[in-house]
Amino acid sequence: MNDLITMDDLTNEEIIKLLDDAKKMLPAAKGDVYLPLLQGKVLANMFFENSTRTRMSFETAMKRLGGRVLNFTSAGSSVAKGETLYDTMQMIDGYSDVAVIRHPRQGAAQYSADAVKIPILNAGDGAGNHPTQTLLDLFTIREEHNDFENLNIMLVGDLRYGRTAHSLSHALARFNVNLTLVSPEALKMPKEIVDDLLSLGCNVIETDELNENIKHSDVIYMTRIQKERFPDEDEYAKVSGIYKISESNLVGSKENMIIMHPLPRVSEIHPSVDSTKYARYFQQAFNGIPTRMALLCKSLGIDIEKEVS
Ligand code: CP
Repeated sequence: MNDLITMDDLTNEEIIKLLDDAKKMLPAAKGDVYLPLLQGKVLANMFFENSTRTRMSFETAMKRLGGRVLNFTSAGSSVAKGETLYDTMQMIDGYSDVAVIRHPRQGAAQYSADAVKIPILNAGDGAGNHPTQTLLDLFTIREEHNDFENLNIMLVGDLRYGRTAHSLSHALARFNVNLTLVSPEALKMPKEIVDDLLSLGCNVIETDELNENIKHSDVIYMTRIQKERFPDEDEYAKVSGIYKISESNLVGSKENMIIMHPLPRVSEIHPSVDSTKYARYFQQAFNGIPTRMALLCKSLGIDIEKEVS
């Protein structure tokens, strides 16, 4: 199957191969070499919700591999005239070879995949999943720590609505990490996800305390409290800005601890952290290019191992 809707669509072996392939893509991702593996192919970037990194890194990945990109946003399209998602996807099926879709409705990526023949890559479906983000997150962690086994990984912030945290926790649990889930009560990881993590044999601690866990962590994964997901503005106001890291919080951290964030950040990470050795969030965003190159090649049937020595 060439769709990627949740991380369950990939075996552990496929995940590791994608990360290995992404490593091989680094020179092309930086533009140091031109590798036209996707020449003649067209990617449809279907964004029904805002994006900077996901949309642009998919576009860069496709173009650096010689492919072309159709950029779609709901504003300015015939969605504004009432066209349905089903009909819109029928058009894309004829216009492109692979589509990336971001949509505010959970389940929209699977619905789209069921509606068309071309591969569909889920770039975020409401509070559901964001598996292509997970691939670049895993790549970033592996670049620093080489392996995932027994790492202490802390996920912080909006774990209720945070699709990056949902997809990443699922994947990490399959690679035997220890997870500390830090959130206020109102934004706890959904119980069914925690149950899944436990059934995968993952050590899971749920807490609302950030600072006392920093010194034990190998990875701190901050997330934004997402105003747009709250049904009630007063509920958002109660938890807005609840977790913040600045340089002074990091005294006593492990030498090779890294701080990640899917971005955009609001106030979770103070700019004083940017120049510390712990900051990885900008590198993490760049890593979207090689990992998405590897994923596009896989979805379009190109074996990077055979094409790149
Ligand atoms: N990490 C992420 O999904 O960023 P964008 O919303 O800018 O795509």
